[in-house]
Amino acid sequence: MPRAPAVSETCRTLSHDVYSSLLARARSRPGPMYPLHVGDTYREPWPGLRPESLPPTSRLYNYAPVRGEPTLLEAIRERTRRDYDLELPSESVQVTIGATGGLSVAAQTVLDPGDEVIVLAPYWPLIRGIVAARGARAVELPFFDRIGDRTFDPERALEEAVSERTAALYVNTPNNPTGHVLDAGALEVLVRFARKHDLWLWSDEAYAALAFGPLPLPLWRRAPERSLAFCTASKSYGVAGARVGWVHGPEAVMRAISGVQTFSTYCAPRPLQRGVAQALLHAGEWLDSARQAYRLAAGAAAESLGLPPPSGGTFLFFDVSATPAGRDGIERFLERAMEAGVLLTPGAACGQAYESWARLCYSAIPPDELDDALLRLAPLVSGGAQLGLPER
Ligand SMILES: Cc1ncc(COP(=O)(O)O)c(C=O)c1O
Repeated sequence: MPRAPAVSETCRTLSHDVYSSLLARARSRPGPMYPLHVGDTYREPWPGLRPESLPPTSRLYNYAPVRGEPTLLEAIRERTRRDYDLELPSESVQVTIGATGGLSVAAQTVLDPGDEVIVLAPYWPLIRGIVAARGARAVELPFFDRIGDRTFDPERALEEAVSERTAALYVNTPNNPTGHVLDAGALEVLVRFARKHDLWLWSDEAYAALAFGPLPLPLWRRAPERSLAFCTASKSYGVAGARVGWVHGPEAVMRAISGVQTFSTYCAPRPLQRGVAQALLHAGEWLDSARQAYRLAAGAAAESLGLPPPSGGTFLFFDVSATPAGRDGIERFLERAMEAGVLLTPGAACGQAYESWARLCYSAIPPDELDDALLRLAPLVSGGAQLGLPER
């Protein structure tokens, strides 16, 4: 008997509704509704990145080479040389449809169904589904809210999470959602663990350019033989809709990744690849001013909610269980925030251990609107928001 038309077993649990289930109700409410639930920016991108600003050339809207536009590949190599003092062989880079596309093709390339990926939590909400769409399993390891706590032993926690099916360890620092930046000591623990168990390291670099202080040498740079670095223009240059990212890693696996890229989406949007190439080389001032604006927004948001300021990225993440509006549960808290005009992400989207938490993106709206959103939110949180161990 042929199978009836149906959604595959693998994809049955995937939903597009990861960021807020309150959206439909929010749309019908009068008054301002501040969308702090999705990671985005209010800033207009650097003008030189726009396709209409590019020098007139032919074939701008034809297919690009699968690996990427030559000008973008060259700009990526130039920036890697400048920022990390490393010469990337050109065969070790693949341009992708954002970092999301990069992680998806990497998951297809290095995972088999039934494999496991240890995902340091709390995490960027899409990573779990990317792993699940491959028929693999994300093993969540609460980490960013615990590292630095004297009672937390990261080596032991990692050893408890590993199994015969573990193929990779996913790490995102600066972290979405906590804004935490792992220090050199923590990164070395992760590298030692990956080497001991012969695992891939997936180094998600989405916010590498948005750290508010100096960054340690990145994870991928410490173990290049087993690392895949996932990079994107979305966050640094405020062009999430352009869908331009890239992956780099050891040449042998990059050949396979380019093969998978060919059969999934072929190439990333060509005009935007050319624009991002210009941004990587010439938009340093734009990036500096974005980082400065986000740092100020982060400070204002953290202060108003009574939280320590984050070290990078574009988010705050906090436990609401002890807040005036959170005592009746997270759903009620998110509902009351929505009624006050602010949409937040439920913490469970970032990991099972974070049911009572909420995520706020402080870069999504301009500073004057953010001030208003924070005024509306503060009474719901006053004095009770916590950042730290859920069961401390
Ligand atoms: C940690 C992290 N990785 C990857 C991505 C995906 O970025 P892109 O827009 O390049 O697909 C995001 C987007 O929010 C993110 O926060």
